Amino acid sequence: MAESTFDVVVIGGGPGGYVCAIRAAQLGFKVACVEKRGTLGGTCLNVGCIPSKALLAASEKFEEAAHGLAKFGIKVGGVELDLPGMQAHKDKVVKDNVTGIEFLFKKNKIAWLKGAGKITAANTVEVEGVGTITASKAIVIATGSDVTPLPGIAIDEKRVVSSTGALSLPEVPKHLVVIGGGVIGLELGSVWGRLGAKVTVVEYLDRVLPTMDGELSKQAQRIFAKQGMDFKLSTKVTGASVTETGVTLTVEPAAGGAAQTIDADAVLVAIGRRPYTEGLGLEAVGVELERGRVKIDGHFQTNVPGIYAIGDVVEGPMLAHKAEEEGVALAEQLAGQKSHVNHDLVPGVVYTWPEVAAVGKTEEQLKAAGVAYKAGKFPFTANGRARAGGNTDGFVKILSDAATDQVLGVHMIGPNVSEMIGELVLAMEFSASAEDVARTCHAHPTLSEAVKEAALAVDGRPLHI
Ligand code: FAD
Ligand code: NAI
Repeated sequence: MAESTFDVVVIGGGPGGYVCAIRAAQLGFKVACVEKRGTLGGTCLNVGCIPSKALLAASEKFEEAAHGLAKFGIKVGGVELDLPGMQAHKDKVVKDNVTGIEFLFKKNKIAWLKGAGKITAANTVEVEGVGTITASKAIVIATGSDVTPLPGIAIDEKRVVSSTGALSLPEVPKHLVVIGGGVIGLELGSVWGRLGAKVTVVEYLDRVLPTMDGELSKQAQRIFAKQGMDFKLSTKVTGASVTETGVTLTVEPAAGGAAQTIDADAVLVAIGRRPYTEGLGLEAVGVELERGRVKIDGHFQTNVPGIYAIGDVVEGPMLAHKAEEEGVALAEQLAGQKSHVNHDLVPGVVYTWPEVAAVGKTEEQLKAAGVAYKAGKFPFTANGRARAGGNTDGFVKILSDAATDQVLGVHMIGPNVSEMIGELVLAMEFSASAEDVARTCHAHPTLSEAVKEAALAVDGRPLHI
């Protein structure tokens, strides 16, 4: 190896790590990124955000071609699924993205050290197969997260799969049972449902997407049920027996009661993710963990000076954009700048169809905190563009402070709301009131007029309902 001393050594080449590396290099640091996977981009680009969105997009097109065009006066016949072709599309999207990061590393003169990294001192990383690396300014832990296992149910990535296996099933299962009605369960359940699987979601709590606004999660469940998904709420899985041809799950009411069995061709375990710190050597160097996550202060520094951490491995939502923001802020702080991340305004999006998007406080959170608020809601059925596109399911809901009218939370389900949430995140970053949003001119006819109307509805004066 030509170089063994760097200013900043980032361990992990996911959205947190690679973005931190790029920003640090832009700021003049000499940077290395240690990544043990054969490609850069981490969970997100390899087995997470990007391949799942490639399959979601492709399966949406299939569903539309097969069942969704007649209402537009378009007759199609002989629509057939070419699953290997769809998987090839997904694989190409992943390849193009991960090689794109390699290109960005070369452009920014970042050394990619290919191997597993282990921290051996506050400024030293041992990289398997590479050697000992010194970090004169900072070591950044960006090792991400991994699937949370369900005790008693072994993931073999064939019949019982994690999200990784569910991205590459070789055939459409007749019956897919998803354990966990969270983001992965609903996104990947939607993919296989559209391709022809019967999908049953088994959720421990009494609603899907349990961390989102209650009204939003209820509406989401209603719409997905209409699409054919079956929900077994308040239900726990107590065992699984796997055979050559399928899996028999034993379930019972979460509160206790009679057990039942469910036969499935495949089972997706999607009950959350947990921070990944295996083999990093944290114990030996004395880096403290808190509930499995690396403990950091307000500046991403661990209890060991010189060692920092960002992304899924630290507290907060396990989202790629949150990891990226932290990567940028940390690099800039290392360069003496006063950057920070507003963790109160990290949007959350579920890329089902319709999509679900939210930012800020839910009604439940505001009630629990005793904050008086006003709510304005507007349905997509009353939006001309949504009608034109045949996508009228869902609504936009804006919550604002009863006294100041400042927007406190936005919750949407509907077409393209993943793109529409950005406007509200920006508005909230600038402490906008619902009145500010209501008085902002929105192009007609656009879906975003539903945002303006919801803001008008906060003050009881929507124009189109
Ligand atoms: P990761 O992306 O997990 O990257 C960590 C990297 O560190 C890995 O590549 C790993 O190989 C490497 N590593 C670990 N230990 C070592 C070591 N000791 N030495 C060297 N390398 C090491 N988020 C969204 O915002 N939007 C989405 O649409 C979305 N979809 C998702 C879909 C799925 C199916 C999954 C599983 C996740 C999804 N996520 C999504 C979450 C997103 O992938 C994560 O939040 C994001 O990847 C976290 O980034 P990170 O950099 O912290 O960690
Ligand atoms: P999740 O936290 O979103 O959902 C897990 C669900 O499983 C919850 O509803 C929970 O109540 C339920 N659950 C937990 N234990 C259970 C049990 N024993 N039996 C039945 N249900 C149980 O986790 P998920 O879907 O695995 O995704 C992990 C993380 O990956 C997400 O939290 C998110 O951070 C990230 N992700 C983000 C995406 C996005 O931004 N669009 C897409 C996919 C993943």
